[in-house]
Amino acid sequence: MAVRTETILVVDDQPSVVQLCKRLLESQGFSAVGASSGEEALEKFRQQRFDLLLVDLVLPGIDGVETFRQAKEMQNDLVGIVITGHATKGSVVDAMKSGLYGFIEKPFTMRELMSTIDDVLQRNSVEKENVRLRAFVPLFEVTKAMTSTRQLEDLYRLVLDTALQEAGAERGSLMHLDERSSELRIVAARGLPTEILEKTRQKVGDGIAGLVAESREPLILNDGQMQDERIAQLMRPGSNLSAICYPLLSEGRMVGVLNLSRSSAIRTFSESDKELLSILSGQAASAIVSAQLNENLSRSYVSTIEVLAKAIMARDPYTRDHSDNVSLYAVRVAEELGLSGAENETVRFASILHDIGKIGISEGILLKPGKLTDEEFEKMKEHPAIGANILADAEFPWDIVPIVYHHQEKYDGTGYPDGLTGEAIPIGARIISVCDTYQAVTSDRAYRKALPEEKAIDILRKVSGTQLDGNIVALFLKIHREVDGKGTVAQQAIAA
Ligand SMILES: [Fe+2]
Repeated sequence: MAVRTETILVVDDQPSVVQLCKRLLESQGFSAVGASSGEEALEKFRQQRFDLLLVDLVLPGIDGVETFRQAKEMQNDLVGIVITGHATKGSVVDAMKSGLYGFIEKPFTMRELMSTIDDVLQRNSVEKENVRLRAFVPLFEVTKAMTSTRQLEDLYRLVLDTALQEAGAERGSLMHLDERSSELRIVAARGLPTEILEKTRQKVGDGIAGLVAESREPLILNDGQMQDERIAQLMRPGSNLSAICYPLLSEGRMVGVLNLSRSSAIRTFSESDKELLSILSGQAASAIVSAQLNENLSRSYVSTIEVLAKAIMARDPYTRDHSDNVSLYAVRVAEELGLSGAENETVRFASILHDIGKIGISEGILLKPGKLTDEEFEKMKEHPAIGANILADAEFPWDIVPIVYHHQEKYDGTGYPDGLTGEAIPIGARIISVCDTYQAVTSDRAYRKALPEEKAIDILRKVSGTQLDGNIVALFLKIHREVDGKGTVAQQAIAA
């Protein structure tokens, strides 16, 4: 005889039926408990969980359908079979509507009873499996979003929104654990008042989320059903809330706590919600850990870039702020072109660093007040390749090397180092070329004073479609017009 792990509650007002069913079930390896009324059955549900309710339709007090309905409120994943002596079409429909899975008519044989029970338990396990599978769809989204964004804030929101949607919760928050201070801080929230968001910081061990972080165990909080005294005190009595708090753990490391809640009038959280969140939170936690690593890495890259950019400025006082201004315009153009977030970042850093190769050009050439000789100009033309060489060793996560290498190419093929034409020049390099031309004309040089903006715009128009990509010039002029009268892009960026 196979050992069954399920526990079944048999409810019938005829003690002989209860006894018979119990004996039959136990002979098949199930654990079985009997009750003679709906009220007694509900009392038993308060004490323990059951996998299946086998209930007589007609009972002296509350009937079988109502008993099942109330029991399911206490235990969301409960399944039930109704037994009746005189099934009418209407009573069958009513029972099915209330979520009862199966129906069995008296008198029944042992085989009929067992096959109905097996059928119901099997269907229930398929449904539970579906819950598990359903959890993989949002997980896929979370993982996919991870690769497309390096922004931690976006990921926090995505994890919370996915959890809210999948668990059918109305409000929620995602708290991040600062390992140094052992403090939880809300990093994403939905449906919570702002004052809570700003104030809420919880030490590990304090408050509900703090206790979850400490115990590393999920917690379901249903009003009036608190067994733990500490937690019961933390719940506002009569709040009619059902909540679930889930620890986010990645390879044993506490990352944070996910809190979800809804009105208990809708549905209380149950074991199946816990199961769904266990899959979701595991994936979310490792996604958060790698996004954090990524962010730390990006931050160290950015500071390296800032150091490099300062090195460029120190060499050439005439190009002080030059790269910054080129970069501000270049990013606006890239955004206007509809490039992706990652491509915009690439353009931003490439434009800050595009002239880094000037480090390798002697000051005699770099700061020469007059026109360069042919020989000096040939030397000067080496700066994109020198820059690309320096940056190739840095292994940045952005593909900035080709942009830096080609930033002196011209659309019509008259530029250097490779004399590329048109679309063969990387888009980032074409953008920088336009912004660089404008910036160079409007700033002081060793050999001349800055020219007025109108002059720079004239030059851009003149070489649009020949030396410069006409499309990009048009976009640049559009942005320039928009900021005209509101200060330069740089001033606007500072004001923001
Ligand atoms: Fe350059």
